[in-house]
Amino acid sequence: MTILIKNGTVVSSTGADPAEVLIDGEVIVAVLQPGSELALSAENGADRVIDATGKLVVPGGVDVHTHMELPFGGTIASDDFETGTRAAAWGGTTTIVDFATQSYGLDVRECFDARMEQAEGRCAIDYGFHMIIGDVTDAALKEMDLLVNEGVTSFKLFMAYPGVFYSDDGQILRAMQQCAGNGGLMMMHAENGIAIDVLAEQAYERGETDPVTHGYVRRAEFESEATHRAIQLAKVGAAPLYIVHLSAKQALEQVAIARNNGANVFAETCPQYLYFSLEEHLDQGWDGAAYVCSTPIRSHHDHHQDELWKGLRTNDLAVVATDHCPFCMKEQKELGVGDFRAIPNGIGGVEHRMDLIFQGVVTGEISLPRWVELCSTTPSRMMGLYPRKGIIQPGSDADVVIYDPQATWTISVENHHMNIDHSAYEGIEVNGHVDTVLSRGRVIVDNNQYLGSMGDGQYLRRGLSSYLI
Ligand code: URP
Ligand code: ZN
Ligand code: ZN
Repeated sequence: MTILIKNGTVVSSTGADPAEVLIDGEVIVAVLQPGSELALSAENGADRVIDATGKLVVPGGVDVHTHMELPFGGTIASDDFETGTRAAAWGGTTTIVDFATQSYGLDVRECFDARMEQAEGRCAIDYGFHMIIGDVTDAALKEMDLLVNEGVTSFKLFMAYPGVFYSDDGQILRAMQQCAGNGGLMMMHAENGIAIDVLAEQAYERGETDPVTHGYVRRAEFESEATHRAIQLAKVGAAPLYIVHLSAKQALEQVAIARNNGANVFAETCPQYLYFSLEEHLDQGWDGAAYVCSTPIRSHHDHHQDELWKGLRTNDLAVVATDHCPFCMKEQKELGVGDFRAIPNGIGGVEHRMDLIFQGVVTGEISLPRWVELCSTTPSRMMGLYPRKGIIQPGSDADVVIYDPQATWTISVENHHMNIDHSAYEGIEVNGHVDTVLSRGRVIVDNNQYLGSMGDGQYLRRGLSSYLI
């Protein structure tokens, strides 16, 4: 099956130009000049021609931070691999990198195999895994080497959540040394969880039990301190470091200092930190539970959002991922009624990342190529998927989104496809809409219809990061 996408503007991380994209089977075989002889003969020979007049033709989104059906906080994230990856496709994301989790006392390999089995045959789009190491033992360290050879080339550790996923500095250093040897990327949840728990307990004892307290006790200083510590440990451990879900401007400053010193330190932020504030979203009584996530939503008084957008321009923030970890208000977030510490942490957003970050183009915060770079190209390079994913060029997978920059619509629980009983983004009006999505050459979303099926997505064995300095 050959498909020609014509009359559109093809966007890459370096520019946006009129071009025609020829797909043969699962891959892109040519990017052609409109009106050229090659384009005309491609059109004559194509099985299907898609007219993208007035539309942007962009590489499918690559969301490198999702948690489908993650057991967390006494419940399980409400999107499973089927519903979550389908929702991602609706929103123009054609690749996710999710997490397999080794919990304390468990064997890394067994945990990884179980996660693979859970996802097998259920994904709508291609998927890979990072490995969460929740118990840094000698055996776990050895297993990291084997996983890298099998395409799991990044490992997440937690400086937060004592008693759950937490690693101490010695364990972190040892894991980093292991990554220095095997080429893996160290991903870090950088918050001082020990200190946070002290403030959380003190607040609870004072009777401060509402969701907003989550935001107060998870102080920006604790994110900044942990980010600084992670950077110093990575320097000594000689490992590349990727800070996940960065929300505080003070943490961003630490990343910028490290990067100005030439270190292999990178950071990701998420749409929720660009859109929400403690005052407007967390501080609304129980309803604020929808916005409980970690790192937390920050205060608007400190202009974190402006600094994050700036970081997205300067590349101190290189990636936007969602940290998609949805919990319904009913029965899930409700576990924390009367005790903010028991609210499951997480926000659902895998469907909306491309649109939400496109608003940065609309408002002039970022350029059109930068949108593609942040949402597709750099995540792919960072996580060892490039050039298979994240770019429209011959030889790459035909993961392509046809995007209407003129459309306007309003995000709502009524029109989203995620398995969650509310939308954190309810009522936000956006410019731009995903019209058509191709995943490895198959049209899986078109004309407001889902045309794919469960199991279309393939597991991705990833290479080492090709983003390192
Ligand atoms: O609140 C969050 N971020 N939930 C998901 C788990 C994590 O720390 O990424
Ligand atoms: Zn985290
Ligand atoms: Zn996460």
